[in-house]
This record gives sequence, structure tokens and C-alpha cells, in this order.
Amino acid sequence: MNVKFSKTALPRTGTVIVFAAEGLELAESAQDLDLATAGQISRASKVADFTGKRDAILDIMAPNNSDLERIVLIGIGKPDDLTSYDAEKLGGKICGKLLQAKAAKAEILADAIPGLALNPAEFAARIASGARLRNYKFDKYKTKNDNKKQKLKEISVSCVEPAKAQRAYAAYDAVAQGVFLARDLVNEPPNELYPESFAKRAKELTKLGLKVEVLSEKQLRQRGFLALVGVGEGSVRDTLMVVMSWMGGKKGKKPVAFVGKGVTFDTGGISLKPGANMGDMKGDMGGAACVTGLMCALAARKAKVNAVGVIGLVENMPDAAAQRPGDIVKSLSGQTIEILNTDAEGRLVLADVLWYTQKRFKPQFMIDLATLTGAILVALGNEHAGLFSNSDELCERLSKAGNATGEKVWRMPLDKAYDKLIDCKVADMKNIGGRHAGSITAAQFLQRFVNEVPWAHLDIAGTAMSSPKTPINESWGSGYGVRLLNQLVADHYEK
Ligand code: BES
Ligand code: MN
Ligand code: ZN
Repeated sequence: MNVKFSKTALPRTGTVIVFAAEGLELAESAQDLDLATAGQISRASKVADFTGKRDAILDIMAPNNSDLERIVLIGIGKPDDLTSYDAEKLGGKICGKLLQAKAAKAEILADAIPGLALNPAEFAARIASGARLRNYKFDKYKTKNDNKKQKLKEISVSCVEPAKAQRAYAAYDAVAQGVFLARDLVNEPPNELYPESFAKRAKELTKLGLKVEVLSEKQLRQRGFLALVGVGEGSVRDTLMVVMSWMGGKKGKKPVAFVGKGVTFDTGGISLKPGANMGDMKGDMGGAACVTGLMCALAARKAKVNAVGVIGLVENMPDAAAQRPGDIVKSLSGQTIEILNTDAEGRLVLADVLWYTQKRFKPQFMIDLATLTGAILVALGNEHAGLFSNSDELCERLSKAGNATGEKVWRMPLDKAYDKLIDCKVADMKNIGGRHAGSITAAQFLQRFVNEVPWAHLDIAGTAMSSPKTPINESWGSGYGVRLLNQLVADHYEK
């Protein structure tokens, strides 16, 4: 989608988007348009009882004697509490409306709205960003063109400071690129996206200046990543680990680190899952997708930060060679794990990747993302990711970034008292903790592979895939986490 910013100018053709604050306060350009159309906007608002409430939409046919086709009036509600994310949601709504109307392009009049708290350039850029985020559809496997929904091709946003809006938008555009990559990876079918093809997609990011290393299954085995490698024993696909680094910050400054669970398909292994909805387990690499999308976003916007992203890529299949319930494996950390359920595989992946990441990079902090437990859906549904952390500061920052981006998190407890649930007679720990507190025992398990470093674990089983539609996303794979972590980095770790 092409996005242009220009000085406020009266559009002459096609579709025009106009904002109205509550009480029907129009920006100057909208007032001009109202005049130019002999009061069409104010008259239609009256007839339709449109008062400018946030997210209200009024579709107005342009009068006969003009080259305009339609004027779409969007309510922004009270302008003094409109946040950047609210503006993005408005942009998303606009895109949705245009898609529905089969309009391939539109002009958006976004010059200074009276009383707007947001800086007008930021408002214009966020509107465009929201439209861009919504303008996504995973349709590469559809062969019948008539089934393909049209995408928006171009929007031109008129605003008072177009150059400033353009600069702000460039960064949001880079983030959208990362979000789309994460969504694509989650949406891809598991016959197409397996560890090797995933790693190939990550390798493509070298174009953006990222360094990308891939460790083969053979190397992982030799180096002792036996918890990770064990998960893939039943798969014909090789298990891989990918390390992506973006060194945009001060030379020698410790990096921030992101770790992702990348189970490209989770059948449950020998502890086979039931058939219903098993296809959803193509999304069990949502954590790795987020980390990859985030690294893409940071590089694309040339973030002034040193960051590493490390993902464990593996397929969990039942097979004669698959690991069994009862097996004991030795993790990279040296700690042993009795595998009592081969479907609790995500924590085995993360155990080794977390350990490796903290040892090699000694990061400022380490955040892992994983579609780890069904239990987090029971606790939090699709609205919040579960947040577990040993650092109050990191929690606070994540929670703020979550509210700012709409990718919300909710803190859950970590407590030594839960440890007994994963203690084990024959090994250092077992990989399941019984019926209760499933998300917490999983997090408690992960903590055994984290030393002193500030660490947060995000259980994104409810948010990375199959989550409800929002104004900025209607796709199955949401790309959850990319905007959240980008915000966290931008707020606190660039300088
Ligand atoms: N990948 C699943 C968790 C999951 C469930 C993700 C639903 C997305 C949607 C994970 O590997 C898993 O199977 N977890 C088990 C753990 C249990 C065996 C202790 C679960 O949640 O049932
Ligand atoms: Mn599983
Ligand atoms: Zn899984």
C-alpha cells in the first residue's frame, strides 16, 4: 500500500475520508468540503443523527454535480483523550470501510482537528499506520481471483506538517513490515513452514542488515541441546536454532534478548493431541514468529539498540523414533528432565534456548514468547498474554507498552511454592505439573533455566493466533508481540 502525505488540499475525485469530533466539530478542510458540496456533510449528519461518537461511520454519497464519489465521515469522539492506538484503530476502521466499498484508494483529510490532544503529524501517521496494519490478507494459496478480497492500493493523507508525518510513518511502516512477517509465518501451513524453511525466511533478513546464524541439528546435538533436539526425534525434519542479531546501538553495549518457541507443528508427539482443531497447532511457532518479526522491524527502522533474537525450530511428531513419556533427557544446562508428557514440549525447547542465550549474550534482559499452555486461555482468554517475570521493572514497562499498543499483558505469579509440582524422584524435574496452575508450573519450569538476568516469559497461546478480529487485524495469525516489544525497546532501550 502506497501512503502519501501532503499539505491540506481539497480533493476533487474519488473517496474522501473526513473526521468529526464529538459535537460535530470539523477540521477546516472538512468545513471547506462541506461548503463545496453545498452543506452535504452537515445535512447528512443531521438526517442520520451522526454526532461524531468515536468509531461511528457515515457513508455519504457525493452530490451529482461533483467528481467525488463518496465522503466517509468518521467520528473520533472526544478529541482530548484520543491516543496513538485509538488513531490506529480509526485508521483500521477506515481501511475496513474502504475494502468493503471496494475502493482501491482514498484521500484522508487529517489536518488539525479542533481540540485534538495528539500532535497532528502523529495523528496523520497513526491513521495511516492503522490502515496499513488492517490492509493485510493471507491469500497466497487461493488460486481463484474472485475469492481474493481487494486490498487498498493507495491512501493520500493531507495534513498540516506532511514531512513530519512522513518521518513518523516511516518507522510505523517498518514495524508493520515486521508484523506482516510474523502474521505470514503463523498463517503458513505446516507442510510449507518447517524448521528449515522458517530458517530460510529468517536468513532473508540479512538484506536489512541483520546477522543471521543457523545451528544445524547435528551441531545442536554435539553441543548438548538435548532437551530441544529430543522434541524433534519423531520428525523427518531437522531441528534448528536461529540466532538473529541487530547491532544498532552503542558498540559493546549489552544486547536485549528475545527468545521464541518455534514448534512448526505440534501433534503432541506420542502423547498425541485429540483430532479436533489440531490444525491450529501450525501456529505453535507464534513465539518464534514474533521474535523474527520484531528483529525485522528493529532492523527496518534502524533502531538504536543492540538486540538478539534466538528461536528454537522443531516439529513435534509421533514416530518410531519419537521420544517417549518416561524418557529422561539432559538439558544444555546439565539439569535432567523426565518427560512425562511429550505434549509439554515447548518448555523443553525454551529450556535450552534460554540457557544458551543468557550464557552467550549476558543480555540486559531476556524475554521469551511462547504459545506454551492451553491453560493460559482458560485464565485470560484472548485479550491478554500471560506475563511471568522475576523483575517488577520489566513487568511495569511491558504492561505500559501493552496498553499503548493494544497488545496487552497480565502479570501472573511465580513462586517457589509451585516448584514442588515439578520436582521429580528420578530426575531433576519433570515436564508436567499436574492438573492445576498449568501456565504457572510451565513458567516455573522455565525459570529453572534462567539465572540472575531480568527475565520475562509471555505465554501467547491465546493471543498469537485465532484471536478475535480487531480494527487493525482480521487475520488468523495476529502478529501479537511485535508492536508490544518494539514499543518497549523504543520507550526504554534506545539511546
Ligand atoms: N502448544 C501447546 C499449547 C497450546 C494450546 C497453544 C492451545 C495454543 C493453543 C503446548 O505445547 C501444549 O500442548 N501444552 C499442553 C501442556 C500440558 C501437556 C502440560 C497443554 O496446554 O495442554
Ligand atoms: Mn504441546
Ligand atoms: Zn506446543
